[in-house]
Amino acid sequence: MSATVSPSRLLAFDTLRKVGRGGYASDLLAAASVPLDPRDAALASEIVFGVLRFQAQLDFLIQHYSGRAVSKLDFEVVLALRMGVYQLRYLDRIPPHAAVGQSVEMVKSTGFRSAAGFANAVLRKVGREAVPWPDRAVELSHPEWLLERWDREFGAATATLIARANLRPPETYIRIPPDREIPPDTSVEPTEIPGCYRLVAGEAGRFRIQDIGSQAVVPLLELAPGQTFLDVCAAPGNKTAQALESGVRAVACDFHAKRVGMLRSLGVGVVHLDGTRPLPFGRQFDRILLDAPCSGTGTLARNPEIKWRLDAADIHDLHRRQLVLLRNALEVLAPGGALVYSTCSLEREENDGVIDSLGLTPDRILRRIPGTHAGDGFFAAVLRSR
Ligand SMILES: C[S@@+](CC[C@H](N)C(=O)[O-])C[C@H]1O[C@@H](n2cnc3c(N)ncnc32)[C@H](O)[C@@H]1O
Repeated sequence: MSATVSPSRLLAFDTLRKVGRGGYASDLLAAASVPLDPRDAALASEIVFGVLRFQAQLDFLIQHYSGRAVSKLDFEVVLALRMGVYQLRYLDRIPPHAAVGQSVEMVKSTGFRSAAGFANAVLRKVGREAVPWPDRAVELSHPEWLLERWDREFGAATATLIARANLRPPETYIRIPPDREIPPDTSVEPTEIPGCYRLVAGEAGRFRIQDIGSQAVVPLLELAPGQTFLDVCAAPGNKTAQALESGVRAVACDFHAKRVGMLRSLGVGVVHLDGTRPLPFGRQFDRILLDAPCSGTGTLARNPEIKWRLDAADIHDLHRRQLVLLRNALEVLAPGGALVYSTCSLEREENDGVIDSLGLTPDRILRRIPGTHAGDGFFAAVLRSR
């Protein structure tokens, strides 16, 4: 690609292209940002997440200024235009000539030289005047079917709060175990979850970054020293690490070999397994966490690409898998023990729907909803052995 495109925009473009093929922006950026100047990496991240969060608005604006539907344009040209419009209308510190020039260069250097004049003409028209949105789905930059689901589940006002929260960059929360001292140079604010702090400024340093929604799940297990604890879907190990603060004897499992590797540094028993098959344990556990693979619709501020690639059929497939995982996990729960089933999904089928399908009555339910509660959306149900 042309040397005249800045490293931050090259990385943003390349990341968005890979997200279009099924990648995840946060993983791609984390892997590719290392050699970059931190300011370039920060701009790349701002552009990538902004483009993904506001995609429906950006596509409407491209159509508004060009008179052509985005579906009629080549994907690479659309990406360069989305990046250009985002910098021109949503960011304050980018000179317009840079936003236009860099996007046009990108179009040229990705092999769409013939579209460079078109991109230039469109971007030169982009101003900061208000443009009325045609409908709620564009205004909130979410697929209509997802908003309709949330309207039915939570009511339109809460659904709108969820969608608006998903358009904001998420806050960073870190884990500082309650028995550890907070270093004086760490700028944090305590939350209602013991050991969970909002990072107000600076870096997390040696502390683990873990969203407040995620940190709210482990306390439901009421862990005590010496208990046996099974974490069925454990990678990357945030909740296992949090559970270990209580002195439990833990076994951490996962299905994906690469992700199992992430658990090795925790110093616990690690088992590579498929939780949809009967679990390979000849014993039972006092406490079990089933933090199930899910759609992730509670994490759309952090993973905005999910909203554009998910469809209703995925949610039904996930429900079926979650049901099997839960049934198998309950088989190894000791008499008098407790199991927490959790997801970072907002969808009923993946949450209460799984519990109901097995005819179970939870002792307690935790529901965290973006826009209403801080951080990611989470569902957790506490189930006691019968
Ligand atoms: C929500 S993530 C777990 C996050 C983790 N509990 C934490 O807090 O760091 C779900 C995990 O389930 C794993 N998984 C997916 N299918 C599985 C299966 N059939 N058996 C076991 N683990 C599975 C995924 O690889 C993924 O790591």
